[in-house]
Amino acid sequence: VPTLFPHRIQFPHRLDLSHSPTPVKRLHRLSEKLGVEVWIKRDDFTGVLTTGNKVRKLEFLAAEAKRAGADTLITCGGIQSNHARATASVAAGLGMKSHLILRGDSPQTAEGNLLLDRILGADITFVTHEEYQQREAVFARIEDQIQRDGHTPFSIPEGGSNATGAWGYIRAVEEIRTQEKTLGLTFDSIVHAVGSGGTSAGFIAGKKMFGLGAHIYGVNVCDDKDFFTKKIISIGQELSREYRLAEIAEEEINIVDGFVGQGYAKSTPEELRQIVELARLEGVLLDPVYTGKAFIGMCQTLTQDKGFFGNRILFIHTGGLFGVFSKSEEFSQVL
Ligand SMILES: Cc1ncc(COP(=O)(O)O)c(C=O)c1O
Repeated sequence: VPTLFPHRIQFPHRLDLSHSPTPVKRLHRLSEKLGVEVWIKRDDFTGVLTTGNKVRKLEFLAAEAKRAGADTLITCGGIQSNHARATASVAAGLGMKSHLILRGDSPQTAEGNLLLDRILGADITFVTHEEYQQREAVFARIEDQIQRDGHTPFSIPEGGSNATGAWGYIRAVEEIRTQEKTLGLTFDSIVHAVGSGGTSAGFIAGKKMFGLGAHIYGVNVCDDKDFFTKKIISIGQELSREYRLAEIAEEEINIVDGFVGQGYAKSTPEELRQIVELARLEGVLLDPVYTGKAFIGMCQTLTQDKGFFGNRILFIHTGGLFGVFSKSEEFSQVL
């Protein structure tokens, strides 16, 4: 399978839904503290209700849905899923409906992303952890129901992480290459949070397509290195099958494991304290579920080996800020 060269890269259809290019800024005080240059790419600025990495994927996924004649987007995630909220927002913005399959019990009061899902008018089906493991059956049931109601559904997998969604971060690599040229520098490493693997797959595929020199490091916030290595390879195989891109080899994947902490979406007071510390040092707010853990993984790795990521790091702020508001009590205890 040939790798395409930049002048021949044909992107799939895309809807222009994100505010991009997102800014890249140097974090001066943090760089001084850590002893290496740390920059940040503000993908938390991709939009207000669409904030974060998910809208980059949804630009391609929603374009595919529209071309397939769909009027309803179905997707899934945890109760506080950023991807589900971004999907509900994109659907509303395009005059479509959305149906979210959320893992967990319906709470008495909706907070954070779930509150936004409701405001945005998403239909929600709550499922148990066991049902979520067999979610293909739930998707099939809801697709059926939507069709019976005279509508046309389009199903998007967890996190928007498939070949089509990965184009969002292939495109982000093109953006970063342009920003490197404008700034007159190159990054040694890119560090980002990994939750379902699509962002990593896009970065790794895009690196080859646009000749990005930076090594790509993903800090997993759930599961483990082995799980995500397999997942990213499988998205690479899909990219090869569906778009004739080169596959992703195991050697190209760098997962920095060991920072899941107490589990997905669970925070320790120390983790929250580090989020607060960065907010006060740089005025940059990270989220507790994804970017906070990725940031802590980066900092702790640097403490053990200052040269691990090279001299100039680009940390990707993939959003998730509404997650802060679902942990207001826990945050209050560390303030
Ligand atoms: C804020 C945020 N950052 C990072 C990620 C991880 O991205 P991906 O699912 O593509 O691995 C997600 C979603 O899982 C997210 O919501």
